[in-house]
Amino acid sequence: MTPITNLTDLINQRLPAELAGFMKSAGNMAANGGEKLYLVGGLVRDLLLGEANLDVDLVVEGDAVTLARRLSTGNITIHHRFNTAKLQWRKWTVDLTSARSEIYPRPGALPSVKPGKLADDLFRRDFTINAMAVALVPQSYGQLIDLYGGLYDLERRFVRILHPISFTDDASRIWRAVRYEQRLDFQIELETLRLLQRDIPMLDNISGDRVRYELECICNEQLPEKAFKRAGELGVLAKLHPSLSGNGWLADMFDQARRISLSGQKLADLYLALLAYRLPDIDREQLVSCLRLPRALARILRDAGSIRARLGELANTKLRPSQIYHLLHGYSSEAVTANLLAGDLPPARRNIQLYLEELRSVKPVLAGHDLIDMGVTPGPGIGEALKLILDARLDGTVKTRRDEERLVGEWLATN
Ligand code: CTP
Repeated sequence: MTPITNLTDLINQRLPAELAGFMKSAGNMAANGGEKLYLVGGLVRDLLLGEANLDVDLVVEGDAVTLARRLSTGNITIHHRFNTAKLQWRKWTVDLTSARSEIYPRPGALPSVKPGKLADDLFRRDFTINAMAVALVPQSYGQLIDLYGGLYDLERRFVRILHPISFTDDASRIWRAVRYEQRLDFQIELETLRLLQRDIPMLDNISGDRVRYELECICNEQLPEKAFKRAGELGVLAKLHPSLSGNGWLADMFDQARRISLSGQKLADLYLALLAYRLPDIDREQLVSCLRLPRALARILRDAGSIRARLGELANTKLRPSQIYHLLHGYSSEAVTANLLAGDLPPARRNIQLYLEELRSVKPVLAGHDLIDMGVTPGPGIGEALKLILDARLDGTVKTRRDEERLVGEWLATN
């Protein structure tokens, strides 16, 4: 088979015509300014693999900010420190950076960067399959630039680092290696695997934010359980927390989560709640703080634990619907769902299901102002009367507005 050396046809076949047109005119504009422009990273990889991807990352041997300003017709965000720009072009977001080389002052620290050539820019990247570029200037438009054997590795389905201290420089690449391997059905190449295992302790050097970002990326994969399983086998998951496991139970939970996921819920958050589900409180808190989880996500994990602690109460088959409602009301819905899937008491799960499918959307017809019109004194009494009719609705003892009014009337008579 002749190796692919020009991607013009692939670009034209696989990308929307508007986007391909944008890349071409961006290349022309760069050339007019005496600069060279390249498409780099994941989109090049995915064009060659035939995978869908519309994330355009461009690298210019020159000044990214100036070129971005010339290209942009709308929104543009500039990071002067890194000389990068993000621009909105019609419905697409395009990242534009100046070619640079990086030096890591110490393992895990953010690199210091200085302007460089394309070869430097590609060499600083994580894996050979992500370190290919396509020329966009008119004289060489579409030409594949593969300086580090990316195409060879794509064909043999290898995830391979570019140099032996890649994981030492940036241990978040350990998680990335696992993610790409599992997403693409590749294999981490043997020497890369050896170095990955050698450098697992380096995971302690990177910030919680960076680990969290990599976990979020995994949770946004189609089948995150594959990456967690592999991370478990390699001892990477244990670095996150020694009690975490990516075993078959987790795969089963994730599979069910995809099937039932309720509208308005973020599947990625539900996955994380399931991953942490079996951790004791103290370990969960450790995870929350070392990953610096955002408040809403931390709450989901904590709520899942609190509900889990109440499964015994929830398993009582004699509970009235209103009691089930009050046991679960106020918890984040992902946490309730996590317990529906992972809770180990089937009667509790049945009650949770009833709550999610029916009870949580039950509302009385009468509102606070109706109660005031009926003579309830504004103040805590309103809440009390509303709870009374809500509970009666939940338990099926009132069905109509009339019923609710009658109940409030009786309550007023005795209060
Ligand atoms: N990169 C890296 N080391 C990291 C993170 C990113 O070298 N720790 C490089 C990779 O070459 C990657 C590029 O930066 O291709 C952009 O990163 P990202 O957006 O995370 O990757 P994509 O390839 O665009 O996205 P994906 O592969 O998930 O589709």
